[in-house]
Parts: sequence; structure tokens; C-alpha cells
Amino acid sequence: MTSPTQIDKAALTAPAALVEPYMKAFLESRTMPDNLRNAIAYSLLGDGKRMRPILTIRACEAVGGDASAALPPAAAIEMIHCFSLIHDDLPAMDDDDLRRGRPTLHKHTNEAMAILAGDALTSLAFEIIVEKVTPADRAVRIVTELARGTNDMISGQVYDTLPHWDPNTPDAQRLETIHLNKTGALLRASVRMGAIMGDADDAALDNLTTYANAIGLMFQVVDDLLDVTQTTEQLGKTAGKDVEQDKLTYPAVHGIEASQAEVERLRTEAHDALTSFGANAKHLHDLCDYLATRKK
Ligand code: IPE
Ligand code: IPE
Ligand code: MG
Ligand code: MG
Ligand code: MG
Repeated sequence: MTSPTQIDKAALTAPAALVEPYMKAFLESRTMPDNLRNAIAYSLLGDGKRMRPILTIRACEAVGGDASAALPPAAAIEMIHCFSLIHDDLPAMDDDDLRRGRPTLHKHTNEAMAILAGDALTSLAFEIIVEKVTPADRAVRIVTELARGTNDMISGQVYDTLPHWDPNTPDAQRLETIHLNKTGALLRASVRMGAIMGDADDAALDNLTTYANAIGLMFQVVDDLLDVTQTTEQLGKTAGKDVEQDKLTYPAVHGIEASQAEVERLRTEAHDALTSFGANAKHLHDLCDYLATRKK
């Protein structure tokens, strides 16, 4: 795999510092039982990479928008992502004990609280859009993107849970469908919502969607590779889990080398989709390189 060249990681991840207090303040402003608020805070404000909100903000900026305009959908997509992680870790799904370097939420509290915290994060994500995004027609577009992304992610999780749902389709094709949905859908929504908040025209939105689809699939191919190449300590989540659970993954179906080649192919496809944005897309180019070469 190509090594990351001249990626300014601090510049790349700077928008996370805006999203963190914004999510915290919104959570504190809601009325709910303290144990639910504490459970949500444990997962939402934990040590994640914040790649989805960063993508939302950088996509908004790439089309000439302002980071502050992108904050509501940036916070919303991280909320949906956290809900997906909390439920993904439940015993009925991947049955994981470790997430972001700490016990998973159902281990930290209990299963009921983890299910309910995931449920609450979903509705909080939509509430923050409806409350903070103006004008109303733009809020409707953002809600539509968020709902589609969430529904497609859930479909992907269903395919992942029942990988033999369509035995007549070759493994490689089912695998791509799983990954484009379970992981690609939220990355696509992240980028598209940012572009919409920045008033992107149709051509810009199309190009950014091509970029998002490429990095979305790439993100999960890399996640599959990290599961078999890194340690639990490095990842902050249990390594070797996919083999243990006989998951349909890129390394399992294509092998490690071919999976790495696929990462490189998708990386090039993503960069190419950004050509028309020139220097405005610098951060999106860097994010793509970071996501292709990340080690956690
Ligand atoms: C993990 O996502 C789940 C996948 C979709 C592969 P991240 O790797 O973005 O996890 P955090 O948010 O940094 O913990
Ligand atoms: C996660 O895929 C996808 C979602 C959470 C939607 P994984 O099950 O591979 O994610 P990790 O490896 O547990 O983070
Ligand atoms: Mg899973
Ligand atoms: Mg998992
Ligand atoms: Mg994984």
C-alpha cells in the first residue's frame, strides 16, 4: 500500500474540534433520564476518529460553504454512526466487548441501555437537523439524505448478518453490496449533506457522490484488512473478529494482496472524481489518502 505522503493530520482533523462541543451541548440541552444521557455520552463523546463529520465539513467547504453551516448534519451523522456501532457490538450482532479502546456500551452498562441509547441517538440525529437547519426546504433535503443513509446502512447490516441471503449471487458481488451499504451509505450521506449545506450545484453533487462511493467502499475494505493485520491494542476493538465469526470480507474472498489492490483502485477513483474542484478539494484529497493508509 502506498504510504501517506505529506498529509497534515492536524489540519485534516481540525473540524473535529468544532463538532465535539456542538454534540455535547445538544445532548445536554435535551430532556431525558440521566442514565440514558450518560450512556449516550459514553459512546458519542468517546475517542472516535470523527471521519464522517469531518467529511461533511470538508465537502461543504469544497463547494464554497462555511464549516459552521455543516455542523448540524456533521453532528447528526456521527450520532447515526454511534448508534450503528453500539448496535453492531451487541451480543445478537457482532458480540464485541471492546470499542474505541473501552468496554462496549452494553458491557459498560447493560444490553437494554445500549439498545435504548442507539434508538435515542437515531431520533436525536433527526431532531438536530429539524431544529438547526434552515431554510425548511434545505432541512427536508438533509433529512432525506440522512434517512436514506441510515436505511441503507441498516440494510447493509442485515446483509452482513445474513451473508447467504442470495445464494445464487457470487460471493464477490454480495460482498460489495454489503460494504457499499453497511459502511458506504453513511459516508455517502456525510459527503452529500455537506455539499448540500454548501449549496453545491448538480454537477458538483454528482462528482462528490462518486468520490463518496469510492471512499465508502474503500473504508470498509481497509477495515476488513485492519481486522486481519493489526492487533486489538492498536485498533481499540477486537482484532481477528471477522475470521472468528466467518464474515464475508475482502481478505476472506479476495486475499490480502488483491484487497490492497482494490484499495488503491478506489483511492485513484476517488481522487479523479475531485478534479473539477481544484485546490478547494485539498482536504478531501488528503482525507482519501489518510483513509487508504490508516492503521486504526
Ligand atoms: C468503524 O468505523 C465501523 C465501520 C464502519 C468500519 P470507524 O473506523 O470510523 O470507527 P470510529 O468512529 O473511528 O470509532
Ligand atoms: C460495521 O462493520 C458497520 C457498521 C457498524 C454499520 P464492522 O462490524 O466490520 O465494524 P467494526 O469492525 O465492528 O467496527
Ligand atoms: Mg458488524
Ligand atoms: Mg463489528
Ligand atoms: Mg470490522
